[in-house]
Amino acid sequence: MRRFTLRYLPLLLLILVASGATHAASNIPSIVQERGRHALVVDGKPFLLLAAQTNNSANYPAALPDVWPVVEQMHANTLVIPVAWEQVEPREGEFDFSFVDTLIEQAREKQVRLVLLWFATWKNNAPHYAPSWVKLDNQRFPRVKTEKGETLNSLSPHHRSTLEADKKAFVQLMRHLKKVDRQRTVIMVQVENEVGTYGSARDYSETPQKIFQQPVPQKLLNDTGKAPGNWTEVFGKDADEFFHAWHIGRFVDEIAEAGKEVYPLPMYVNVALRNPFNPGKPGQYSSGGATDNVIHIWKSAAPHIDMISPDIYFRDHKTATRVMDLYARDDNPLYIAEIGNDQPYVRYFFDALGHGALGFAPFGMDNTKYSNYPLGAETVDEKVIKPFADLYRVFGSMGSEWADISLNHRTWGFSEPVDTYVADKELWNARGSEAEEKEQRDPEDFTQRQDLGDWTAEITYGRPAFWIDPPKGNDPASGGAVIAELGKNEYLVIGYHARVSFAPSRELQGEQFTFDRVEEGHFEDGEWVFERVWNGDQTDWGLNFIYRPHVLRVKLATYKID
Ligand code: DGJ
Repeated sequence: MRRFTLRYLPLLLLILVASGATHAASNIPSIVQERGRHALVVDGKPFLLLAAQTNNSANYPAALPDVWPVVEQMHANTLVIPVAWEQVEPREGEFDFSFVDTLIEQAREKQVRLVLLWFATWKNNAPHYAPSWVKLDNQRFPRVKTEKGETLNSLSPHHRSTLEADKKAFVQLMRHLKKVDRQRTVIMVQVENEVGTYGSARDYSETPQKIFQQPVPQKLLNDTGKAPGNWTEVFGKDADEFFHAWHIGRFVDEIAEAGKEVYPLPMYVNVALRNPFNPGKPGQYSSGGATDNVIHIWKSAAPHIDMISPDIYFRDHKTATRVMDLYARDDNPLYIAEIGNDQPYVRYFFDALGHGALGFAPFGMDNTKYSNYPLGAETVDEKVIKPFADLYRVFGSMGSEWADISLNHRTWGFSEPVDTYVADKELWNARGSEAEEKEQRDPEDFTQRQDLGDWTAEITYGRPAFWIDPPKGNDPASGGAVIAELGKNEYLVIGYHARVSFAPSRELQGEQFTFDRVEEGHFEDGEWVFERVWNGDQTDWGLNFIYRPHVLRVKLATYKID
């Protein structure tokens, strides 16, 4: 395998030349794309973001001693943590970035990167994290009104006063980061948090009512290929929700644009998802946020937002993986902005990587003794941390190489498809996960097959490493694997609690197939470092990943017989 640094250099130069960047700007993290695949670039190298996200309210120096130990135990390379408008601008025009400074200083000591979450106009639909001078002044910063005229605790996107105030504070934050963070400890910023409105499809107060009757903006018509008209004429039954999504998208985009003018870090939004199989009505889920049905509206409205990133709290395999299919797009790198920290979610790490994800951020990973159960685990303890740590340890040591491979090669991810349901169906049904019983299962239910081109991979779960016993699934469901195509007949395979086997995709006439060579190894400075060859029991029954992940470089071959 060639060194990624050499291979990557021309691309980097091209980006820098194209963007007219100076040498000082060359270190600013960025997102690059190649033929629909993506990478986050940090310090001039692809970077796999293996994060821990804190609980809410961890954004004070007093909470940080409860945060770092978990980051360390997880082997996370990045901490995702809020910065609240209420703490940086408690009085209008007076800014205090002391928390940001403390955070950056401590992160550098721990050699951990930061992603900052800008909790401002919207935090899960509400202005809870806005300063008092904002959230208590409904005249100057009006809230959304329902069709019946009820006022909701969600700020309206239709008022310049709100936008200008939020933007001003955000620009100050970015200016401050630019000044104090030439080391690029902060690598990305989330603009707002789970924007949108619960309880109404849109704002029905006077100002938006007028705008709703006006023609749909030309840009949105161009981007969606629609003929002119007002919102109802163009979008019919979707008009209310699309209108709200467009205006929140424009609001967020203007903030991101202004922030990037000062300091162009990658910026993204996170999404309070609707259940893709059972969506309900806008307002039952957070209307106006970038749910799967309005990603195209958001892409048009918010060109300065680099990624629209799902917050996954569906415990079941079918829904969690469907979300990834929906958000991993040529025009949208997948980044798992949040995912529950309980055991069932861990294995979705493999699906994320298979979808080319830039990163993964389990939520609530700290010792502040809060738990968002039933979304996440009941307690953050060794049992919760270990499976993440097992994966992060392996991928952390090859993060840059993996991110480079992911940018340049095809990848496929798998996770155990049959969920282990506990007696408590309520828990599983939280946020709409579909509970099914695991009884009377066929071995095929625990088998996944993927056509890789010349070869078909088979992934099975819950069988002994020796022998062909049919797969029964792990208890609890915990297996996963990711495969990257390195070249013809050559794959990188990393798995956990799973068996990976290969067979030719086409019919072989007068030929047999075999592993030519299976190397276990690791990466150092972009180079593959060989450790040993897997053979005999380790390959006779497929590649069995039992107690911990292994990194295997697999060469497949066919040979002729008479
Ligand atoms: C999603 C939000 O983005 C988080 O800040 C948090 O509130 C979780 N939901 C629930 O714990």
